[in-house]
Amino acid sequence: MTLNLLLGQTLSFSGDPFKQPWQDVTQHRRDGAVLLENGHIQKVGDRTALRAEHPQANVTDYGEDLIVPGFVDAHVHYPQTAIIASWGKRLIDWLNTYTFPEEMRLANPIYAAEIAGRYLDIALSHGTTTMASYCTTAPTSVSAYFEAAAQRGMRVVGGKTCMDRNAPEGLIDSAHRAYDESKELIDTWHGTGRAVYAITPRFSPTSTPEQLHALGALWAERPKCLMQTHLSEQTEEIAWVRSLFPNARDYLDTYAQHGLLGERGVYGHAIHLEPREIDQLAEVGASVVHCPTSNMFIGSGLFDLMGLAKAKVGLGLASDIGGGSNFSMLRTMAAAYEVAQLRGVAPHPAQLMWLASEGSAKTLHLKGKVGHLGTGAEADLCILNLSSTQAIDQRRRNANDFWEAIFPTIMMGDDRAVRQVWVGGEPI
Ligand code: GUN
Ligand code: ZN
Repeated sequence: MTLNLLLGQTLSFSGDPFKQPWQDVTQHRRDGAVLLENGHIQKVGDRTALRAEHPQANVTDYGEDLIVPGFVDAHVHYPQTAIIASWGKRLIDWLNTYTFPEEMRLANPIYAAEIAGRYLDIALSHGTTTMASYCTTAPTSVSAYFEAAAQRGMRVVGGKTCMDRNAPEGLIDSAHRAYDESKELIDTWHGTGRAVYAITPRFSPTSTPEQLHALGALWAERPKCLMQTHLSEQTEEIAWVRSLFPNARDYLDTYAQHGLLGERGVYGHAIHLEPREIDQLAEVGASVVHCPTSNMFIGSGLFDLMGLAKAKVGLGLASDIGGGSNFSMLRTMAAAYEVAQLRGVAPHPAQLMWLASEGSAKTLHLKGKVGHLGTGAEADLCILNLSSTQAIDQRRRNANDFWEAIFPTIMMGDDRAVRQVWVGGEPI
């Protein structure tokens, strides 16, 4: 049995820094070590002690680098990899102009496999080891994604995007097809290797009530699956939802009425929420995912991070590629910080790091499995160089404590800060 012992600084969490003081739930070790065995973390501790306890282990010394869990990106569209940074549109025009034409191209399974592999390799190079991705309406785009993830040994969440209206002919399915194809994909992929399936109605404007109902019924039949969709991202979108669903109390109600609200529900964006929607999300234990680079890039609005945390809504963080403008969860944390500052609060670096790992993992019901540096977690790790550029290094040297030393990497770091990634106990 191979034992790997990684030496470096370590940062782990024993609780939620939005619920408790961050000092009470964070453990930073300057002389840390992480022991890996059989694809899992066996122990996190002191480097001298662990070396003495396990003299037979293969040692990799990362010096002053920081060992953290691989980042967890809780909302992304892998099919949009090749249209990231497309200029000049707001949500609905952006979907029609750039997104739908590109998603149509993934009906070709060879192209889908190419984009899935390209996306996963870019994500890994940025330190992201788990993500929840929308695929396209083509079931082969889902297989392409799960197959590419399996080749890389990654734990990923994904699902067939379902749309039966307000999209081009080539991307449209039907209520029946969405149900049948999603069900078949669940039975093929959910729990196969490290794959997790999320039933995926794109958003209320592109699903008829019949389709939402069919997918709600499927979720009731397969309750261990996640359900991911979009919620209240832009004001024009919300007005459109209101006109399409005149009997719904609000946007969230369009999902709730059709069995698409629950504890395993993951709602992307959730910017312009009514108080009733916030209460209901908290009541059922559902989660929302903050996509700050996307919210700024498409001009959607300022997510209320602290308000939603206070309301006890589950919180994750995501790039939302390709509405989001960067694959890096470091850059995504920086954007979350900036958006919060525009609302008058400054999240602590511990809260940002927690969101990009533990928080996102919790929204995906993978708590303790990924996004966690602790005994029993799967050994998906990111080794961060905290001096990856001259600009970052000179600020770090001027730091008075660990949080001042990591914050320049959070604010200015990118894939250059990722020294190494481990997936399932193997270095990539
Ligand atoms: N709402 C519905 N579909 C999408 C999408 O692909 N990206 C974003 N950002 N919002 C959406
Ligand atoms: Zn999205």
